[in-house]
Amino acid sequence: MDRNLLLTPGPTHIPPDLCAALGKPIIHHRTPQFQQYLKEVGEGLQYIFQTKNHVYLLASSGTGTMEAAVANVVNKGDKVITIEGGKFGERWTELCKVYGAESKVVPVKWGTAVDAKLIKKMLDEDPSIKVVFATLNETSTGVTADIKALGEAVKGTNTLLVVDAISGLGVVDFKMDDWNVDVCVAGAHKGFMLPPGLGMVAVSEKAMKVINACTSPRYYFDLRKYEKAYGKTDTPFTPAINIIVAMVDSLRKMRAEGLDNMIARFSRLAKGVRAAAKAMNLKLFAEDYCISTALTPILLPDGIEAKKVVKAMRDVYGVSVAAGQGDVENKIIRISHMGAVDEFDMLVGIGCFEKVLKQFGHKFELGAGLTAAQKIYNE
Ligand SMILES: Cc1ncc(COP(=O)(O)O)c(C=O)c1O
Repeated sequence: MDRNLLLTPGPTHIPPDLCAALGKPIIHHRTPQFQQYLKEVGEGLQYIFQTKNHVYLLASSGTGTMEAAVANVVNKGDKVITIEGGKFGERWTELCKVYGAESKVVPVKWGTAVDAKLIKKMLDEDPSIKVVFATLNETSTGVTADIKALGEAVKGTNTLLVVDAISGLGVVDFKMDDWNVDVCVAGAHKGFMLPPGLGMVAVSEKAMKVINACTSPRYYFDLRKYEKAYGKTDTPFTPAINIIVAMVDSLRKMRAEGLDNMIARFSRLAKGVRAAAKAMNLKLFAEDYCISTALTPILLPDGIEAKKVVKAMRDVYGVSVAAGQGDVENKIIRISHMGAVDEFDMLVGIGCFEKVLKQFGHKFELGAGLTAAQKIYNE
């Protein structure tokens, strides 16, 4: 099977023109030519992050950018809030523990989103809380959080809002500056349609003051070094050169489509997949009010194992989707619709999902999912 349709929530499909850009002969990074790329990428990222802040480029996966955020704003003993509603929220707690923070963990039922009023209440009761760590798009559950409301909660306080936007940026609505986000981290292998290995960290002025005063040990991830280099259109260490070169093209594509149009495209794709799941007698894992448009999390019927469904779809038909994580690892299927995908990709994914579920004995009318999605895509 030559087909390898990636409908996984990262890495996502890389279109052929970006593959070609990634394969360009490497150039040296301390050159005017590379500086030109850095400049264009910097400006493009400001558009995608919706910020005037500097966006630093780190050669790392998404988790590296999360560690950079924690290492630069958390001192040993600091009080912080970590919002947990899935695997990636839990990662904030784990990282804060490593850096010695006193973490007030806010547990959120998987498949639902945090209530910002609760965070506001906690901050009112204890203004010494230094940072709130949140996740824009919790990829493990398919939930999008109301970051705007969280930003309102920290507005006018000394508390920083740090957001993991790794699977949400360029996919769901997000406005770093308007929503009072102080640190926003992202990765290249989701909405940007590029391979893993390039991380991004944007930092507000308010956060930069905290970063400059932070005493936690850091070297590669010391954001002061990235800020110093940024001023000279440079990077402190050897950057992920070829991914940055290809990002010039990826950002041009994204800007040509426009953020609003991209978000509308993903919403439409999501609507089709959700309609298909319901028509196949399946339930969605996330609640309607917070379900993400980046991916659709689908609960499987009892007795059908997610890992087996994933394996059959991938190995027999060349369509990659993801199983769940944590407690729901073998109970849910996550179908991504972020990055370079269109309705025909979704129809192939749905058709394949139908075929495999039928083989595993789930009762539904074959073609019901495809018909439901087609109706949405023909609206
Ligand atoms: C929301 C979110 N945060 C963090 C990560 C971790 O990123 P990485 O696996 O690139 O380290 C991911 C990856 O799937 C993610 O989706």
